[in-house]
Amino acid sequence: MAPAAHKPVCIVGSIVYDLVMSLPHLPGEGETVLGDKFSTFIGGKGLNQAMQIFRLDSPITFWGRAGDDKFGREVIEVLKAQGFPLDGIHIAPGDQTAVGMIYVAPDGRNMIGGVPTANMNFKLEEIGDDLREAIRDSSIVSVQLELPDDVNETVLKLARDAGVPTLLNAAPYHELPGSFIDLVDYWVVNEIEAGQFFDCDVLTADDCLPIAGHPQVLDESQVWVVTLGDRGAAVIDKNGISPVPGIEVDAVDSTGAGDSFTGGFAVGIAEGMTPVDAAGFANRVAVQSVTKLGGMSGLPTRSELQIARRN
Ligand code: RIB
Repeated sequence: MAPAAHKPVCIVGSIVYDLVMSLPHLPGEGETVLGDKFSTFIGGKGLNQAMQIFRLDSPITFWGRAGDDKFGREVIEVLKAQGFPLDGIHIAPGDQTAVGMIYVAPDGRNMIGGVPTANMNFKLEEIGDDLREAIRDSSIVSVQLELPDDVNETVLKLARDAGVPTLLNAAPYHELPGSFIDLVDYWVVNEIEAGQFFDCDVLTADDCLPIAGHPQVLDESQVWVVTLGDRGAAVIDKNGISPVPGIEVDAVDSTGAGDSFTGGFAVGIAEGMTPVDAAGFANRVAVQSVTKLGGMSGLPTRSELQIARRN
């Protein structure tokens, strides 16, 4: 099925150069683990999400920063080869492209550490007229927490002022200024981040009760979507908790599964789906994404998704 026509999804977000090691198990504190494979990929939550949206044949504008170094040049080359729109990517002179160090276990689980240099150097002054216009002319504006809070807050405010729906993939977790509560329509978090925000243990949809009972969710039009790994996801809004069932898959690498989900969810909302339908769609997208090594390389195209659905 062809995607429904809509204005572009606007992502303002991170670019990261990922260094990936496949190891027999994830290291513990102080432990050295030797693996048998080392690979590099371009990634970052923002860019992965934008690429997922692009691969779903949805119009996209992406705004991010890389350094003018070897990694930054490779990011541009790889994106150019795929026909990804480059207009919103700023190569910052003298800056260092952000890097991520990712360990992947044989069952696909991962551990990620990162140094976000060029991403965290995104300054408010860099929100120029072109980005302001892109925000106003979007179907939905989406940010994550790998850029400075003041940049994200300004982007969300611009969207809110223009009446454009907003999405925050609140990852990686840190405490946010209270203003975010009023600026975000759709929150997407994984089970760990949900636990950090609501101070509870989240493993299943039923564990999302503290979110459903939260006044911001009950009284306002906020929607929280919690991804639960192979247990699917849960959509929480003023109507309660709607579970999205998990789908069985042989996982190779779960890196970027949350990004794949967030990109799929943004596309679903942009195409006019309800949050529960958008989460169901996003879940199918994310499940496909874990079948290959590398966050970005696993992100499925719309036709791969349709083939997987028929099988
Ligand atoms: O969500 C996965 C991404 O998070 C990786 O690509 C890594 O760069 C980190 O930012």
